[in-house]
Amino acid sequence: MATHKATKAVKAMSDPANPPARWRYGDAWERFPMRAGEVWRASSMGTVAVHNLFDAPLPGFMRTADTLFIDPPWTLGNLNSFYTKAGRADYQADYEVFARRLFACIAEIAPQVCYLEIGAQYATQAKIHLHDAGYGCVECWPVTYYRKHPCWLLRGGHTAHTGRDFTGMDEERCIEVIAREEAYDVLGDLCMGRGLVGWYAYRAGRPFVGTELNPRRLACLLDRVAKADGVVERISAAPRKNVRATRVRTIESNTPVLQPGVFDDQSGILAALDGCVP
Ligand SMILES: C[S@@+](CC[C@H](N)C(=O)[O-])C[C@H]1O[C@@H](n2cnc3c(N)ncnc32)[C@H](O)[C@@H]1O
Repeated sequence: MATHKATKAVKAMSDPANPPARWRYGDAWERFPMRAGEVWRASSMGTVAVHNLFDAPLPGFMRTADTLFIDPPWTLGNLNSFYTKAGRADYQADYEVFARRLFACIAEIAPQVCYLEIGAQYATQAKIHLHDAGYGCVECWPVTYYRKHPCWLLRGGHTAHTGRDFTGMDEERCIEVIAREEAYDVLGDLCMGRGLVGWYAYRAGRPFVGTELNPRRLACLLDRVAKADGVVERISAAPRKNVRATRVRTIESNTPVLQPGVFDDQSGILAALDGCVP
């Protein structure tokens, strides 16, 4: 896993017009040159913005989501690799700090249901976070990503899931099924990436909202919608240069909730936490 030197000074993202050569994600951004703070609509069904979770406030439209599906970075190395891909130098030093900020944003949105796709390393801790976020029913299915790598799909809800069994499903299929079958008014994603959540909600003809750090990744969703004959438009400009978002102060994580050795027997822990957590 790559290690990155954490920088104390928070540097602005490099210009998305001149990304690191390896991380252009095609030329979608050239067609949809999204900038942080702008709000874009995708075919009147979707509202999205480039936004760093560490910035406050969250775009107000995110609070319309009553169900979230989030596939966040799973580890510190993975998180920082996304910073590299976004051409950023403000690498993070502690994954737990990111996770706490993610859960603070989830708490602000307060959806009825929150799905998380997460790797084995953080699955137990994520279940605890969902429980601490007030979800009395935290469920978990072993699924895959890219059709072969194992990971976990977690669902925090106030009532038990009554839909399909996701066991063994690939994450993209899970998103497709949830976007089509889950009872929601607006489906949201705080780490949209190239936009599978938005794409499958769009395909299902249902409203979605989302934010993403990397403009070039998020532009791929707008491009996909446009290529499917959707109407894509920028509906609000970025804030003026002298109006700055507040960078959320983060406290370093302290004592881990679980002892390190516990993670070695992950299946046991997951089994112990399975089903509705009182
Ligand atoms: C595993 S990917 C999500 C992939 C997504 N499901 C898709 O359809 O492409 C995680 C995403 O989180 C984003 N991310 C990382 N740090 C972030 C931050 N501080 N704020 C917002 N998004 C962030 C990354 O840029 C990356 O696109």
